[in-house]
Amino acid sequence: MKIAIGSDHGGFKLKEVIKEYLIKKGYEISDFGCYSEESVDYPDYAERVAKAVSNGEYDLGVLMCGTGIGISIAANKVKGIRAALCHDGLTARLAKQHNNANIICMGGRTTGIETAKDIIDNFLESKFEGGRHLRRINKIKDIENS
Ligand code: RB5
Repeated sequence: MKIAIGSDHGGFKLKEVIKEYLIKKGYEISDFGCYSEESVDYPDYAERVAKAVSNGEYDLGVLMCGTGIGISIAANKVKGIRAALCHDGLTARLAKQHNNANIICMGGRTTGIETAKDIIDNFLESKFEGGRHLRRINKIKDIENS
């Protein structure tokens, strides 16, 4: 599985930790930046990761900013992206099971490292349930195309 990861400066430290965690678990990771704690604009990184997922180059994305809010709002502007801002393992599991989220977002200033690992594990190890949830996702696509 190929995973694209990115953050702004507010998510940088958490990105570095989660990147190493995923590499150790054997995932193929590409880091789309940023590469330091120097102040940058989160939409730039949201766009890079979201487009790389949306065009099929990567299976899933992981994005962080200070709160996870701005970067998730920006990622969701890219067609085909369902970016979910999650704060615990349960919301991360449901983001995959019910929403088939293709990007998970977290806040580097709001989410601790152990919680972030739990979020990632739940997200990556859960499966989309389909059925009525697929019908609902297709309605999101209809909104996108209307
Ligand atoms: C940057 O200071 C901060 O606004 C950003 O990381 C994020 O929290 C925005 O939603």
